[in-house]
Amino acid sequence: MMSILNNLPKFLVLLCLIGCSPENETPVDEDDSMTSEVSTNPSLITAERIINADDEPQNWLSHGRTYSEQRFSPLDQINDDNVSKLGLAWYYDIPIRRGMEATSIVIDGRMYTTSGWSIVYAIDAKSGEELWVYDPEVPRAWGRYACCDVVNRGVAAWGNMVYVGTIDGRLIAIDAATGEESWSVSTIDRSKPYTITGAPRVVNGKVIIGNGGAEYGVRGYVTAYDAVNGEQLWRFYTVPGNPADGFEDDTQEMAAETWNGQWWLAGGGGTPWDAMAYDPELNLLYIGVGNGSPWDRDKRSPGGGDNLFLSSIVALNPDTGKYVWHYQTTPGDTWDFTATQSIILADIEIEGSQRKVLMQAPKNGYFYVLDRKTGKLISADNYVPVTWSTGVDIASGRPIEAEGARYPDPEQPFLQFPGPFGGHNWHPMSYSPQTGLAYVSAQELPFIYGKDINYKYSPGEWNLAIDFSLSATPDDPAAAKQVDELIKGRLLAWDPVTNKRVFAIEHPGPWNGGILSTAGNLIFQGNIKGEFVAYRADNGDQLWSMQSQTGVVAGPVSYAIDGEQYVSVTVGWGTIYGLVVEKRPPVSRVLTFKLNGDESLPGVVQAALVIPAPKASSASAEQIADGRQQFHQRCFMCHADGAKAGLLPDLRAAASRDVPEAWNEIVLNGALSASGMPGFSSVLTPEKVEDIRQYVIERARVATAE
Ligand code: HEC
Repeated sequence: MMSILNNLPKFLVLLCLIGCSPENETPVDEDDSMTSEVSTNPSLITAERIINADDEPQNWLSHGRTYSEQRFSPLDQINDDNVSKLGLAWYYDIPIRRGMEATSIVIDGRMYTTSGWSIVYAIDAKSGEELWVYDPEVPRAWGRYACCDVVNRGVAAWGNMVYVGTIDGRLIAIDAATGEESWSVSTIDRSKPYTITGAPRVVNGKVIIGNGGAEYGVRGYVTAYDAVNGEQLWRFYTVPGNPADGFEDDTQEMAAETWNGQWWLAGGGGTPWDAMAYDPELNLLYIGVGNGSPWDRDKRSPGGGDNLFLSSIVALNPDTGKYVWHYQTTPGDTWDFTATQSIILADIEIEGSQRKVLMQAPKNGYFYVLDRKTGKLISADNYVPVTWSTGVDIASGRPIEAEGARYPDPEQPFLQFPGPFGGHNWHPMSYSPQTGLAYVSAQELPFIYGKDINYKYSPGEWNLAIDFSLSATPDDPAAAKQVDELIKGRLLAWDPVTNKRVFAIEHPGPWNGGILSTAGNLIFQGNIKGEFVAYRADNGDQLWSMQSQTGVVAGPVSYAIDGEQYVSVTVGWGTIYGLVVEKRPPVSRVLTFKLNGDESLPGVVQAALVIPAPKASSASAEQIADGRQQFHQRCFMCHADGAKAGLLPDLRAAASRDVPEAWNEIVLNGALSASGMPGFSSVLTPEKVEDIRQYVIERARVATAE
């Protein structure tokens, strides 16, 4: 039984390579794409089904719907004529109040989605009724290694299983019918601060999963596991290891030529934590590689170097994990410019010839179009303002760097667009073959890069080697307002042929949702203010919206059951922006819409936070200034810029209320480490911790005086 299941997908792929035609598939009724009924017994997912996903548009079989990851639904029952009649069909409450980034998968009427702490939910996609919940019981203390909240971006499906990567580095196969665990493997060395937030993909019977952790000091890789039994089949490292240990292969040796110093001590980074795509015809798997560890290249690879494969798109043979080609978007990354953003494959006509392209709008601000067979750059233009570079040289494929952008002088920090939040982050991009446009959740968020002159690698801690306090919101309200005015967010419609913006919809702020485009001439996107909106795909006119009561960042999906089309999105607040900058009601849900849906959301009551007036304190200005600096190196990523509090506890309340001993128990000795609040005794002295407390008390004083 096992071996038949194991071999079936490979056999089907072979069949498809010879020539897949709709006649030789049987999973659904070909005559009517909308006839899927809610199934009690999930049907098998095969290579053939995902390769021919367009033959069953009622389903959303894999992360980006198709292997090309276009996030375009061919369904058009909901369209630009009738979308104003869209209403809520059902909602499903999720009790986990952490960021919601998942793209749901829908197979024959059953939806599989995830929440924070890598919990998987199976839901009847027609009624919203819960079928089962699988909780991998991630130890909450592991949350300290999650740079950007304990989020998860969804599952993959194959055979009769769904697969989830957990925040503590496991890959788990779950029986799609029952929610029972089938197998579980650890994908990491458990002494290292790795995390998994990305959705697995399954190609030729192999479950492919990457990892995160470059902010803490790790070496990135992707691994393939046998979908049936979890056996490890291959691993591709995205940065080279210590040459003294011997290179895994020639590719690693070639990559090592581009590094200097003892980069392996802090891992080097390059964690491939999100995007992948697959071209079945070329049999190439594309992975997006993350930033360097630490961020400052001078500290990572003294003397320079491109540091392959940081910030690159790498094409691999999915059967062997062997390198085929790479394109590096940001050679010698020193800005956290990941190339892990959505990778989309499309066949488009450029200058009169049909090209097989790959598109990406990574953090660095350029929209890239590559030939996906060779990796050769076709075009690159900035889709947001870019100050670190003046353009990309098409012949060499390299960016032209701006003077000073590498912030060489500790006395001369560099104010830059984009910063580490990126011109576009993980929020899924979509491409509509109907309009020929790519839709990007774009943003303008400046950042001041400067060296952390006290940087020293500390294992398992935040290791960036840059001074984050330079970019903290200024304490002076007028200066803070000026910075605020620079910050923007928009839905951008981009033509990958002409490299031009076709239209843009300005949002009230950055960090808006992923995008779905449909054959109904629609695009759907949620935004930071919690609206979920439908626009015309060809000109961006707003046609419909609904208030979700929280923030929306995930990518929506569309599917059909019993002749009715649905649009669904996971909503909820948290994620890195929710921890660091903005506050929203902590509500987590799946919202699903259909024409004439008449369900409504229950009202929300948000308790106002009371910060007690702090007691008088005799802290000196130097002490508060040092506390500010320390806070923005060690605490802000969970407790918010300026200690304003996003999703996690408001430290201003704790600092005003608690005595120093209680503060030290938590901050130095790790009294709350089991719930994800790390102890800092290995990197902070009691004096520094007291400085932080005094800074937070001062912030509480300002807040209570306002
Ligand atoms: C990786 C994320 C993370 C980082 C970094 C972090 N914290 Fe926390 N912190 C938490 C979480 C999660 C909680 C809530 C724990 C709980 O619910 O028991 C918390 C709670 C606390 C509390 C208790 C708050 C209360 O209301 O009782 C204090 C005090 C605190 N943190 C201080 C700090 C300081 C100071 C720093 C920097 C030196 C810091 N934290 C860095 C995640 C973090």
